[in-house]
Amino acid sequence: MLSTRATTKLCSPKQAAQLGRVVLPLHRATSSIPGCPAALRITAVYTSQHPSSSRSFSTTTPNHLKDFFPAKETGFIRTTPPAWPHHGYTEAEMLAVEPAHRETKTVGDWMAWKLIRLCRWGMDFVTGLTPDQQVDMKHSTTATSASKPLTEAQWLVRFVFLESIAGVPGMVAGMLRHLHSLRRLKRDNGWIETLLEESYNERMHLLTFMKMCEPGRVMKLLILGAQGVFFNAMFLAYLVSPRICHRFVGYLEEEAVHTYTRCIRELDAGLLPKWTDEKFVIPDMAVRYWNMPEGKRTMRDLVLYIRADEATHRGVNHTLGNLNQKEDPNPFVSVYRDGKEGQRPVAALKPTGYEREEVIG
Ligand SMILES: [Fe+2]
Ligand SMILES: [Fe+2]
Repeated sequence: MLSTRATTKLCSPKQAAQLGRVVLPLHRATSSIPGCPAALRITAVYTSQHPSSSRSFSTTTPNHLKDFFPAKETGFIRTTPPAWPHHGYTEAEMLAVEPAHRETKTVGDWMAWKLIRLCRWGMDFVTGLTPDQQVDMKHSTTATSASKPLTEAQWLVRFVFLESIAGVPGMVAGMLRHLHSLRRLKRDNGWIETLLEESYNERMHLLTFMKMCEPGRVMKLLILGAQGVFFNAMFLAYLVSPRICHRFVGYLEEEAVHTYTRCIRELDAGLLPKWTDEKFVIPDMAVRYWNMPEGKRTMRDLVLYIRADEATHRGVNHTLGNLNQKEDPNPFVSVYRDGKEGQRPVAALKPTGYEREEVIG
């Protein structure tokens, strides 16, 4: 399936995938196919979504571009909706998100922050950022301008790598709390679902970007290695100090908010023409998952949704890092006592997280 609303109206997902494989080589010979709207739409997707870069990690030529996960067609099943439907945001909520940083207060905070700084340095290095593409490194979490923008290809490499990592900690934390509840015969107080939902949400980010590009072998190898290291490190670290792990994820999400904010600003400044091209079409799965309204389905809109998700993860994890890991209920899914109704915390609006006395009492 080629993720085009036009194609899904005209033919089945399988046919669309086949059509795309035919159209792409044709596109390389001709810039458009007059009189064929579906093919034009597919062409627009490919021309806009497969930017080239001198160091894009893509070792696959555009001729070999394919849909990694076409919808499986079966005799009985029409569609499979998301297990965790997205709760949605208003535009005002999404625009209110700002890059921010929680100052370190404990040795554990400091360790988590330094580790994130190291990861950020590694990320900039492997994604081939030149010095003039880097933001002010002294304020790198909140600075969002550099003298030279990233290309669309560099952004996609960054997004795919970041999201493939970001989906790990929620799953590890949710799994370990699940197992802890089973073996200690104790309730969990509502943390598991929020953590698993976070990892699900991150995976949806990844899959959305995977519809826009095809990583090369080097990139796939990097993702494989990074997951192997990160999963095991997070597994062991969460057993030792879940509090530091949540703080670490809070700082990771600060970086994510920063990254997407910079992308939005470069889109607004017209520095990413392939994504602001009116022919550019975002993946269908994104439109469905975020329930994006008609007329609000540009790349900028998509990045706004994703950034709001990251701001939620940031607030949730900084808050969880402030709580008693064994006893406290999850304040983001709890029902509050009389007089506190309507005061359920909103993670996206609290970049540094809620302190324990604010939400537990
Ligand atoms: Fe994400
Ligand atoms: Fe996130």
